[in-house]
Amino acid sequence: MNYNDMIRYYTEEKRLKETVKISEEELLKQRDFIGKIRKFNEDYEKKNNRKRTMHISTFGCQMNAHDSEKLQGILEEMGYIGCDDEMKADVVIYNTCCVRENAENKVYGNLGYLKHSKEERPDMKIILCGCMMQQDTVIDTIRKKYRHVDIIFGTFNLYKMPELLYTNIMTGSPITDIWKEHGEIAEDLPSVRKYKYKACVNIMYGCDNFCSYCIVPYVRGRERSRRSEDILKEVRSLAHDGVKEIMLLGQNVNSYGKNLGENITFAKLLKMVNEVEGIERIRFMTSHPKDLSEELIYAIRDCDKVCKHIHLPFQAGNNEILRRMNRKYTKERYLELIGKIRKEIPGIAVTTDIMVGFPGEGRKEIEDTIDVIKKVGFSNAFTFIYSKRTGTPAAIMEDQVEEDIVKENFNDVLKALNEIILEINKEKVGKVFSVFAEEVSMGNSEFLTGKTDDNTIVHFRGSDDMLGNFYNVKITDCKTFYTVGEIVEEN
Ligand code: SAH
Ligand code: SF4
Ligand code: F3S
Repeated sequence: MNYNDMIRYYTEEKRLKETVKISEEELLKQRDFIGKIRKFNEDYEKKNNRKRTMHISTFGCQMNAHDSEKLQGILEEMGYIGCDDEMKADVVIYNTCCVRENAENKVYGNLGYLKHSKEERPDMKIILCGCMMQQDTVIDTIRKKYRHVDIIFGTFNLYKMPELLYTNIMTGSPITDIWKEHGEIAEDLPSVRKYKYKACVNIMYGCDNFCSYCIVPYVRGRERSRRSEDILKEVRSLAHDGVKEIMLLGQNVNSYGKNLGENITFAKLLKMVNEVEGIERIRFMTSHPKDLSEELIYAIRDCDKVCKHIHLPFQAGNNEILRRMNRKYTKERYLELIGKIRKEIPGIAVTTDIMVGFPGEGRKEIEDTIDVIKKVGFSNAFTFIYSKRTGTPAAIMEDQVEEDIVKENFNDVLKALNEIILEINKEKVGKVFSVFAEEVSMGNSEFLTGKTDDNTIVHFRGSDDMLGNFYNVKITDCKTFYTVGEIVEEN
């Protein structure tokens, strides 16, 4: 199958006509398994005078982190408690990522260490799930070289974890359960939030864009949106629990709603979430530049709770590279879009993703990327070195770039970025911003870390009883990736 046929196969023949939810009956069945394992764990506690423990490691993006919150919720309902040291936990889960090779290597490395723990404590359960598991070659490697793994499941059947764990406990045999493609969405899974006052909400799953370097569409399946009523129900319930900031998640939120019977767009959804009482800030990621509508720009401008920040990955500045990446926009179109956004929403912060080293990208091409960095003035950016992903069209392109050229280009991109980010941050010194106190600062418990509406990280003096509130903070100092400030008066 050539590239065009492949895309047609995936996006047309397998395009989902409608979002389907996993049946109530199926979820009840899983609840039953949760109850059975809970009983085992209660008996274990009575006999051994300690609760069974769990440790979950997340290797991927916010989608994966959000899946891990669901896994943790399920394990807590089973009676497991958290354990900081994975070598000592009774259940260890690796929720994996395969977007770049180094994410995969980390998983293999860590699995090697776990082997000794499993030999010492054969009762320990080692579970692998997430994107990496959707690749056949990975499953083969694990089953051959990492025989101490008990359970493997993928991205489409996370909700079945209770049944798989129960079956493994009863039979003692390793289980691999990978679904190749599945359109169903599981609503109402138990979930544990990492933060008390902010939460992520999935609005859609999968991706149909097939950027030529990216593995996500193959491991996360076709794009499917959650019904707006389910999203709003979840947001209202989070608000009821005291959550004030919501992050709406999707690989490409701009195409939200396409496979729903409802007459809805992402802009309309934003307006609906904006009405939910108790929610004070709304963020979202990620937007794809190819289909960012005027309607969305107006919605960001008009919804008072939607933060004045947009994450808009541009990846590369050279038009030929963008064409081969299958991104479906040009450098000029991207710059024009930024102009339009800034005209409607003055002061909006723009952040981005940049990839360096895509096949065919030499010194000349990287100048276009640096030009975009300088022209846009990003407040922050995630930068990645291109990683060849087997099965993607870019992996078989002939002009893969030599490592030393990639490194040199990467350093130049970082230099240009860091200069501009620092410049933008410096403009904030002396000004007062409303900062949402999100967590106690890592490494200094006398400081809190929060964010401004435009996503600037601010450290300021405070104590944990202040978390979840907004403070007027005057920025006193700045570094490239954060600022420091002091409270001037409470909101
Ligand atoms: N859906 C989002 C991105 C999800 S992946 C979007 O399109 O904006 C996050 C980032 O990982 C991408 O923006 C890209 O910069 C990077 N990425 C994806 N595949 C990669 C690869 N093969 N090598 C290096 N970086 C990659
Ligand atoms: Fe990957 Fe492109 Fe989809 Fe983002 S939009 S997940 S980069 S294929
Ligand atoms: Fe996210 Fe990695 Fe999967 S970036 S969608 S966890 S491949």
